[in-house]
Amino acid sequence: MTQLQELRHAMARAGLDAVWISDPANVRAVSGFSSGKDGKVLVTQGGATLYTDARYTVQAAEESPLDAFIARPPATLEHAAPGLAGLRVGFEADHLTVAALEDLREHWPQAALVAVQGLVQSLRAVKSSAEVQAIRDAQALADQVFAEVRPLIVAGARELDIASEIELRLRRAGAQSAFDLIVASGPRGAMPHGVASDRVIQDGDLVTVDMGAQLRGYHSDMTRTVAVGTPGAEMARVYRAVLEAEEAAVRAVKPGVRTAELDRLARDILTGHGLGEAFAHSLGHGVGLEVHEAPSLRGTSDDVLQPGMIITIEPGAYLPGVGGVRIEDLVLVTEDGHEVLSVSPKEVL
Ligand code: GLY
Ligand code: MN
Ligand code: MN
Repeated sequence: MTQLQELRHAMARAGLDAVWISDPANVRAVSGFSSGKDGKVLVTQGGATLYTDARYTVQAAEESPLDAFIARPPATLEHAAPGLAGLRVGFEADHLTVAALEDLREHWPQAALVAVQGLVQSLRAVKSSAEVQAIRDAQALADQVFAEVRPLIVAGARELDIASEIELRLRRAGAQSAFDLIVASGPRGAMPHGVASDRVIQDGDLVTVDMGAQLRGYHSDMTRTVAVGTPGAEMARVYRAVLEAEEAAVRAVKPGVRTAELDRLARDILTGHGLGEAFAHSLGHGVGLEVHEAPSLRGTSDDVLQPGMIITIEPGAYLPGVGGVRIEDLVLVTEDGHEVLSVSPKEVL
């Protein structure tokens, strides 16, 4: 859980007296309440209140140390209004809808509403030891499920069969899939987000499996590209190039490194293999209460690695009409370097 004290310092730096938190992951981060879609949190310099409705009276009391106000809007907004008169109140511009903002304006006419971005997200980038453990557990489960399912990735199986086996096993373990599973075989491998289809896997295909577990609210994220039979020389070459870039970027992970430099390192290696254009996305992202969160590993990012961040390193190369490769590891930034949390073996072609 994000410490309220840290959030209040960040609010003060941003010139805010209060913040209305509506982003579900941020609601969870600040309050511990796990049904963030049906909750809001108002944090002031002196207090913090969780707003949710009567479906969650028991759950809110069990999960959150914050005072809860149980009602439906507009009663929630009316409850908050008197305390906000004359205050500068931040709202989450990346999440709040235009209609919800109009509601705030109507019910809090005496507050100055200020759009903020990334306020709570930036505090979530460095994980507590409990959060690291939750993500470790999610990844350990994903590794176990991948090992169970790997033998099923054979010629004649459909992508959907592989995806449903993974989902079933995650469910049975008390988890769920962290996102729409990607199982992209043969030419479909050229789609970085090729969710599983009814395509039948062929002998000689490379198959990209991008999977994660969501466990106790926290996510994991890992990709392996596996060979069915013997792939052609061109895709084997692409595989080796992506693996080289991936391993080099993982080796470079340590505190103080700019994430943009890591993206550059991997991109330069792929460019050296003539695959710079084929690497069609950023190198990675932070992982936590959301699959994609801070820090960003884009070439344009200003983020710098700090101990306790958990990031992905996931270079890929996508050749339309031919196929694709992505290899993704989940990596914890430690005090003096890094620890790779995803342990599933990588194919050696
Ligand atoms: N599964 C989406 C990603 O790897 O970012
Ligand atoms: Mn992934
Ligand atoms: Mn990822």
